[in-house]
Amino acid sequence: MSDKLLRLGVNIDHVATVRNARGGAYPDPLRAAKLAEDAGADGITAHLREDRRHISDADIDGLMEVLSVPLNFEMAATPEMQKIALRHKPHAVCIVPEKREERTTEGGLEVAREENKLAHYIAPLREAGCRVSIFIAADQRQIEAAHRIGAEVIELHTGAYCDAHAEGRMDEASSELESLREMSAFAHSLGLEVHAGHGLTYDTVKPVAAFPEVRELNIGHFLIGESIFLGLTPAIAEMRRLMDEARA
Ligand code: PXP
Repeated sequence: MSDKLLRLGVNIDHVATVRNARGGAYPDPLRAAKLAEDAGADGITAHLREDRRHISDADIDGLMEVLSVPLNFEMAATPEMQKIALRHKPHAVCIVPEKREERTTEGGLEVAREENKLAHYIAPLREAGCRVSIFIAADQRQIEAAHRIGAEVIELHTGAYCDAHAEGRMDEASSELESLREMSAFAHSLGLEVHAGHGLTYDTVKPVAAFPEVRELNIGHFLIGESIFLGLTPAIAEMRRLMDEARA
């Protein structure tokens, strides 16, 4: 595991989205993952959705075989996904909410309402040696609940901040950023490791990367899109440069 102060996890889901548009074998998400690794990614993130719309079971098998950096396996809290995670024992498991009709993971997980169920759900994953991360909104109630159920990591959903920024609602972007800042510090004070991600771009990454408590950013859609123009290696290098600049 990289001991960098701020790690970059590259999410390769959307390489699989493009592959699946034609149903063939290319572009190959495994090749993208290896390239991302060579370009300085500290980890690879992949979300095996229940409907398998992008990443497939075979992709997860392949990633477990070829990666030298840790795999962050994103999944919904279902019995099927728990079984798959327990079979592979990836370095990290990030529990995300999942709705079939959504285009992407729209919000954070409702931990507070499902506390007992989730505590039982994640216990075997922790026993198997996976670091369990919970994807949540910057909301103190959810962070406290994630802590109580025994998660070691929370990943803060940066989507609301990024959407407000992209749509020019700058006051809202600032206030979302302020909540992310406060909740990163709060989660850290409880002993949770703090990650963040969703919707981050070159324009939005620096303020989040500057939070001293954040240890990892998981970034996918923008990087894969940008790689059409720049290539994956320069696209990742530029993201890394901005993160380092923010942290300097
Ligand atoms: N983190 C989590 C938990 C996610 O679900 C996603 C999207 O799959 C990301 C990070 C990456 O988001 P994006 O693809 O918008 O960069």
